[in-house]
Amino acid sequence: MSDKTAATMDKIVNLCKARGIIFPGSEIYGGMGNTWDYGPVGVEIKNNVKRAWWKKFVQESDNSFGVDAAILMNSRVWEASGHTSSFTDPKMDCKECKARFRADNLIENHSKGKVNPDVLSNEEMEAYIAEHKVACPNCGKHNWTPIRTFNLMFETSRGVTDESQNKIYLRPETAQGEFVNFLNVQRTTRAKVPFGIAQIGKAFRNEITPGNFIFRTIEFEQMEHQWFCKEGTDTEFYEEYKKKALEFLLCLGFEREHLRYKDHDKLAHYAKSACDIQYLFPIGWQELNGIHNRTNYDLSRHQEFSGRNMFYLDPVTNEKYIPYVVEYSIGADRLMLAVLCEAYDEETLEGGDTRVVMHFHPAVAAYKAAILPLQKNLSEKAKEVAKQLSKKFMITYDEAGSIGKRYRRQDEIGTPYCITIDFETLDNNTVTVRDRDTMSQIRMDIGELAAFIEKSMEI
Ligand code: GAP
Repeated sequence: MSDKTAATMDKIVNLCKARGIIFPGSEIYGGMGNTWDYGPVGVEIKNNVKRAWWKKFVQESDNSFGVDAAILMNSRVWEASGHTSSFTDPKMDCKECKARFRADNLIENHSKGKVNPDVLSNEEMEAYIAEHKVACPNCGKHNWTPIRTFNLMFETSRGVTDESQNKIYLRPETAQGEFVNFLNVQRTTRAKVPFGIAQIGKAFRNEITPGNFIFRTIEFEQMEHQWFCKEGTDTEFYEEYKKKALEFLLCLGFEREHLRYKDHDKLAHYAKSACDIQYLFPIGWQELNGIHNRTNYDLSRHQEFSGRNMFYLDPVTNEKYIPYVVEYSIGADRLMLAVLCEAYDEETLEGGDTRVVMHFHPAVAAYKAAILPLQKNLSEKAKEVAKQLSKKFMITYDEAGSIGKRYRRQDEIGTPYCITIDFETLDNNTVTVRDRDTMSQIRMDIGELAAFIEKSMEI
């Protein structure tokens, strides 16, 4: 009997630590608030998640192109995008214990999600907190500073001497790298509008209240896709990308009822429409990704601030215009967390035994197969099979402990197939292949393994 509702954030964190998926960052120094390091299993899963996204939004698209822009960009980029002036969180400090919180989070938690702070001004948030005597989650007192806005961008500086230092920023989103390269990509690919630019890369935000494992961190990866289109076609493409974003999640194995669309209650000043896809995390419904109709705001602002022309010239109609942008943005780490939560299952087996099993889609699983010699004296043949398969896939090899224990270890990291080498293998070149989810076994010729695994990985 399976229990997919058993996932809690604590169980996921503990499993990740025990099985080499994710470790606390700088752990031997006592950690560093909300930074996390991916271990040998985790890095494979995350790379597979990113690969799957790239496959769907670049490889399988006939008109989307990838870039990998610099993390450090000219500071004018962030003036143009509005991040310097308004990428802020409303922070409040507890005067008693000096802990710092976001006012919007205090209200959301206090009202148990019934009040939406996104639609409140700073004055309205202060009034709510005063009227409801919202207490400090750290010390329980109610003695707050007024709200102060806090820019989320990490600053650093460049220059060879102290005097010549210039302030620069770690990018808070990858999107601007796509916007500033709009004409470079268009010119070099000879793309015609509509077309897309995609990027996967690190972003940094000095979040005041990071928490919940890798859900909200100060350093994370984004997978962003900007679709440049003509004004008037933008609404249609916005709807199309809402659908594509959902289809991508479904193809990774998410259940439809664990996902929902949520329109933004308050639109950014440049946005015509915006919505999130939320996932039912163990902490409740939370944003997984965003789809935004950003109009021609970004390209127009870069034209204004850089002095460079951002017009697209339609080669057929000779029309000149600045395209609209439909943006689809998803955090690779946040998606990784959702993938972990969705895969987690505690099963009670016949006879009362239990097992934790991660039902990852084979395309996402760290290792596609584990090679297990039934006994140590079969290891030579087992290593030969492992070597052969490792030319095509990430596979793992395990000869330690009983076969039952080895199966359990693989179940916990979600390896879809356990391939056992036994004495029959030496006679007829066949192995047993155990399916992670059904635990059923079939016998197969070694020569058939690669095609069998490859087929299961299709998304
Ligand atoms: N370019 C648009 C943009 O950055 P966003 O809603 O701020 O929009 C997009 O971020 C996605 O990036 C989110 O839906 C989420 O998946 C991820 N994300 C944002 N902030 C994050 C953080 N602090 N930690 C982890 N993931 C984050």
